[in-house]
Amino acid sequence: MSDAQIALDLTAIVAPVNRRLFGSFVEHLGRCVYDGIYEPTHPTANEDGFRLDVVDLVQELGSSTIRYPGGNFVSGYRWEDGVGPRSERPKRLDLAWHSLETNEVGLDEFARWCKLTGSELMMAVNLGTRGVLEALDVLEYANHPGGTALSDLRAANGSPEPYNVRMWCLGNEMDGPWQIGHMNAEDYGKLAARTASAMKMVDPKLELVVCGSSGSSMPTFGEWERVVLEHSYESVDYVSCHAYYQERKGDLGSFLASSLDMEYFIATVVTTADHVKNKLHSTKTVNLSFDEWNIWYLDEHNESGVITEGWPYAPRLLEDVYTVADAVVLGNLLITLLKNSDRVTSASLAQLVNVIAPIMTEPNGDAWRQTTFFPFAATSRLAKGEVIKPRITTAQYETDVYGPADLVDSVATFDRTSGTGAVFLVNRDQHESRTVEIDATALGATGILEALTLSDDDVYAKNTRDDQDRVGLVDNGSAGVVEGTITVTLPPVSWTALSFA
Ligand code: AHR
Repeated sequence: MSDAQIALDLTAIVAPVNRRLFGSFVEHLGRCVYDGIYEPTHPTANEDGFRLDVVDLVQELGSSTIRYPGGNFVSGYRWEDGVGPRSERPKRLDLAWHSLETNEVGLDEFARWCKLTGSELMMAVNLGTRGVLEALDVLEYANHPGGTALSDLRAANGSPEPYNVRMWCLGNEMDGPWQIGHMNAEDYGKLAARTASAMKMVDPKLELVVCGSSGSSMPTFGEWERVVLEHSYESVDYVSCHAYYQERKGDLGSFLASSLDMEYFIATVVTTADHVKNKLHSTKTVNLSFDEWNIWYLDEHNESGVITEGWPYAPRLLEDVYTVADAVVLGNLLITLLKNSDRVTSASLAQLVNVIAPIMTEPNGDAWRQTTFFPFAATSRLAKGEVIKPRITTAQYETDVYGPADLVDSVATFDRTSGTGAVFLVNRDQHESRTVEIDATALGATGILEALTLSDDDVYAKNTRDDQDRVGLVDNGSAGVVEGTITVTLPPVSWTALSFA
C-alpha cells in the first residue's frame, strides 16, 4: 500500500522548462563579491581576480541568469564608478549595508565573470537616487555596439563587444521603507514608466522588470502592484516578486509548508497583473520575475541588534548556515516555481556566494556547498523538456500558519526528444517515511536512471567550514518501476529527485 499517489500525464503540461527559472543573484553585499567570487590573492584566482574554484561550483550549481549589482545596494550605486582603470576608481560609502565599496569589481569585470560561468547577465538600474538619464547611460555603455561616447568608452576599457543584456530591473524593492529613495506606488509607477519607455526607445526588445512587493506581508501588497502596473503596464514585461522564508519559534511544520505562501504570492500577483491588463484593454501579458527567493533567518539578524562599526570592507553579513530542513524547503520552493512556470518566467535564488548562499568561501581557503546547493543543482540538471503538473493524492497535516498542508508535494518534467523524465518530491512529514506511487504509464516509464534523496536523522544537520560534506544527496535504493508505475519511499523531512527512461 502506498501513502501517496501521483499521476503524470501529458495533458497537464504547464510550460516548456525555462532555464531562466534557475537564476541567481550577486549583490555588492558582505562577502558575496569581495572575498566571494573575487579574491585576487587566492591561489585559484584568474587575471581578473575571480576565484576559479568558485566558478567551478557555480557551474555545478547550474545557475542561469545572474541578477547584478543589487539589491538594496543598487539604490545608492553609480555604475560609472566601477569602470575604467581600477587604480582610479573611487571608494564610496555603501549606505545600504554600511560598508566600504571599493569598486574593484564593476560591470566590465562582472560581464566577464558571467561569460566564464556561462551565465546570462541581468542588470538592475538605480531608481532610488538616480533616474532616466543614468539608466540610459548604463544601457548605452552595456549594449550599444560602438560609435557613441559610452560605447566607445566600454571599448576603450577593453570590451569592444557589447554585452547585449536583455533583462533589466527598474530599481529594487521601492516599496520598502528601508530602500534608499523609497517611494510610494504612484511616484515609483510614474518613474518606472518613464524610465522603461526611454529604455525601449533604445531597444524595444529589452525585457524590463518593474518592482513588485518585497514580500507578501508588506501592508501595500497587491495594491502596490495594481498602482505601479496601471502606470507602467505597456512599457514593462515582468513584475518582480521577492520572498524569504525561515523557521519561526520552533514551528517546523509551518516552515515545511512555506511553499503555500509562495503559491498565494504568485496567484495574487498574477490576478492583479491580469486585472490591470483587462482594465487597460491590453493585449500583452506581464509575467512574474521571482528575482529574490530563499531561506533567510532575517528575524535573528534583525534581533541580534549588531550595529556595524565603521564602514568595513567585505564584512561577514547575512552568512546563514543552512540545515537539511532549509534545503527541503528550498527544494519545495523550486517545485512551486516550476509548477507556476507558465507565469513565473524568470527567478533568482538570492544570493549566490556567502550571503544567504548555496556556496560558501573562506579567504585564502576552501569553497564548499551548503545543504541548499543540492536540490537546486539537481533540479537544474535534471529538469528538461516540459513541466508537468502532477495530480497528487496525499494525506494532509495541520500547520499553525497555513492550516492544512499536503504531506507530499511534487512536480515533474518530461523531455520528448530524449524520452526521459524527472520527478521532484518532498515529504513534509516530520516522523514517518512515505511511500509514493507515481503512475507514469502515459509517459512510458521503463526504468529509473537516478534516484537521489536529501535527508538526515538530524533535520538541523549542516555543512560547515570544518565539516563541509556532512550533508549531501544519497542514492535512494527504494526507487523502482513496474509496468509504468514508479514506487519510491521518501524519508521524513526529505527532498528527492528521480529521473526515468
Ligand atoms: O538579498 C538581500 C536583500 O534582500 C536585497 O538586497 C534586498 O533587495 C532584499 O531586501
